Amino acid sequence: MLKPLNENQEAFHTIRLLEDRDALEIIDQTLLPGETRYIVLENIEDIWEAIYQLRVRGAPAIGIAAAYGVYLASRWSHASTYFQLYDVFMKNKEYLASSRPTAVNLFWALNRMEDCLKRHQETTVEKALLELKLEATKIQLEDEEVCRSIGEHALTLLKPGWGILTHCNAGALATSRFGTALSPLYLGQQQGYDFNVYADETRPLLQGARLTTWELQQAGVNVTLICDNMASIVMQEGKVQAVITGCDRVAANGDAANKIGTSGVAILAKHYNIPFYICAPLSTIDFDCPTGGDIEIEQRPSEEVVSKWYEKPMAPENIKVYNPAFDVTDQSLITAIITEKGVLKSPYSEALKEVKKQIGK
Ligand code: MRU
Repeated sequence: MLKPLNENQEAFHTIRLLEDRDALEIIDQTLLPGETRYIVLENIEDIWEAIYQLRVRGAPAIGIAAAYGVYLASRWSHASTYFQLYDVFMKNKEYLASSRPTAVNLFWALNRMEDCLKRHQETTVEKALLELKLEATKIQLEDEEVCRSIGEHALTLLKPGWGILTHCNAGALATSRFGTALSPLYLGQQQGYDFNVYADETRPLLQGARLTTWELQQAGVNVTLICDNMASIVMQEGKVQAVITGCDRVAANGDAANKIGTSGVAILAKHYNIPFYICAPLSTIDFDCPTGGDIEIEQRPSEEVVSKWYEKPMAPENIKVYNPAFDVTDQSLITAIITEKGVLKSPYSEALKEVKKQIGK
């Protein structure tokens, strides 16, 4: 059982339902690491904005925030009949679904909430609202268990003293707790594995530099920040024995979309003969999406590249910018996909079909 590592690891929470206020509290990840500030979201536009602006981010955390979002929007509506409630719910579901397109957890969580509401057609509005609240809470609590389990499976692939490279942030900040790709690093820390973690800065939004280092440093994990273009040299110098990242959507053939830059890291890992692992909760697997080519890649505004993190714009005014937020790693580059059910190996189409059967999808 993965316990808190120390007091610091418990010193932050990503998302919390404030039951007494009917509101959602999140840690504003855009302000980290400089400022640890919690913000309270009290209307659906603020929840949409928080997801879009990456105040709350990471595939599982986006799903959890959206699940609470549709519950709260339904409660705020003061609907007096089930049909009014369903109508409001669906409008808000559609609205939140428009916030970010790539992480399938968003749609998975929203669909799960809709299924819950449909199961309670015959009840009162109050009871249906209670069931929605319970479902959202369940999604959050289950995610914690899922992450713990991913950590345990992933740790079986790693050895004490290894150098581990990670990209973006797939830690506690991206989930309800522990993270996916960072979960084995926390678990290894408890068990004296003494990993040397290399965190890619992850341009342009710097999730690695701002968030992964912040989380791991607080937990006492030995972490070193590198710029994205330094991944090759640390691999060449023999400092990395495994790469481990999270992901936003796994297609039915095993192709995996994750933060922009991940596929480049996977190509480098192949070149240097280093295993490349993807951690994916089952909620991140899109069995209806045949290949990575079918995954919608989010395009983000140019200011994130040229001005967001700089005192002055770092490129000429009106420069054309291409800013895809994710890329797809070809399944042939992935050594294993680690889920809460265990470690999947190629051929992924077959392995994923088997998982689908097991979970009765
Ligand atoms: O744009 P972001 O910061 O939401 O992207 C996050 C990632 O790409 C993570 O690696 C992924 O969501 C997995 S989080 C467990």
